[in-house]
Amino acid sequence: MQLQSMAAEKLSPAAPPSDAAIAIDDVTLRFLTPDGHMMTAIRDFTMTVARGEFACVVGPTGCGKSTTLNLVTG
Ligand SMILES: Nc1ncnc2c1ncn2[C@@H]1O[C@H](COP(=O)(O)OP(=O)(O)OP(=O)(O)O)[C@@H](O)[C@H]1O
Ligand SMILES: [Mg+2]
Repeated sequence: MQLQSMAAEKLSPAAPPSDAAIAIDDVTLRFLTPDGHMMTAIRDFTMTVARGEFACVVGPTGCGKSTTLNLVTG
């Protein structure tokens, strides 16, 4: 029981650790489409990945997975 509590605490940090491998804080990203409209691809997105942590980004098509990864990798 004590081990389960410790694991949950590690997975839900209160604030991103300063040594995080990836830290995205409240990011919104919009594209300007060829016909001149603004397309919001990511809205108010926050994610932290610690060094050595394995993370998956899962969601329906068009929800912004590739946009998020491109943002991280440049
Ligand atoms: N260069 C761009 N110009 C305009 N809109 C874009 C551009 N790139 C992505 N989008 C739009 O942003 C949204 C997120 O796209 P993204 O490719 O990140 O989704 P995804 O979650 O990776 O989808 P999939 O599972 O199909 O790969 C979609 O609505 C997409 O049409
Ligand atoms: Mg994609």
